[in-house]
Amino acid sequence: MSFLDRLFGKSTTTTKEETVNMTKTKTAIVYYSSGGTNYQLAQWAAEAAEAAGSEVRLMKVAETAPQAAIDSSPGWKANAEATKDVPVATGEDLEWADAIIFSVPTRFGNVPGQIQSFFDTLGGFWFQGKLANKAVSAMSSAQNPHGGQEATILSLYTTMYHWGAVVAAPGYTDAVTFAAGGNPYGTSVTVGQDGKIADDEGVIKAAVAHQAGRTVKVGAALKSMNA
Ligand SMILES: Cc1cc2nc3c(=O)[nH]c(=O)nc-3n(C[C@H](O)[C@H](O)[C@H](O)COP(=O)(O)O)c2cc1C
Repeated sequence: MSFLDRLFGKSTTTTKEETVNMTKTKTAIVYYSSGGTNYQLAQWAAEAAEAAGSEVRLMKVAETAPQAAIDSSPGWKANAEATKDVPVATGEDLEWADAIIFSVPTRFGNVPGQIQSFFDTLGGFWFQGKLANKAVSAMSSAQNPHGGQEATILSLYTTMYHWGAVVAAPGYTDAVTFAAGGNPYGTSVTVGQDGKIADDEGVIKAAVAHQAGRTVKVGAALKSMNA
């Protein structure tokens, strides 16, 4: 129903579709990072999701490692301190979201225990159907170019299938994925010995933006479907 139609009295009611379109798509960006890389990827995703018109919550998952382990690594300790004010993700945040983007480092070819621990708290949300029908995608990093990034993202998606989420992987829907290393499951990077991203940051940022924009778009479509 157009503005003019409403002005000239054709209809005073708002359709369901219009109501859905009037509210912004909600995107949760959930990350774990001990060295800062996945925090950076998550920040780029948040920027892009906002630019795509979404309301965004950028959150870390709760740390589960003992303080002694964190203190033993200067990089880990510094990152924990630098991100102490980033809110911790909850089940309610995921329930709120139409789209969710995860970013986690590779740990022995798998997801970090910290994100798995978060998932392990979500049984009640899953049981009540509060995690279903959301658009999701994931990003990762590892020390080696073939150190397990793809396995980590796919492992995360296994949990998503159990939720009934809709995986909005980038695939090869934009040339930037080729430039960023060609991982169709989700943007991934290699981290050098210095703890910094070893790939071209501009290209990675563009790949993250494409992935985030696509996940938001699928989230918006699902929001209409769910209404
Ligand atoms: C316990 C542990 C296991 C790791 N396993 C792998 C691995 O299997 N392959 C790899 O290339 N890098 C591995 N790494 C390196 C991390 O993936 C790398 O430090 C991380 O991607 C950096 O991300 P962050 O800065 O967000 O923490 C491991 C690091 C730790 C601490």
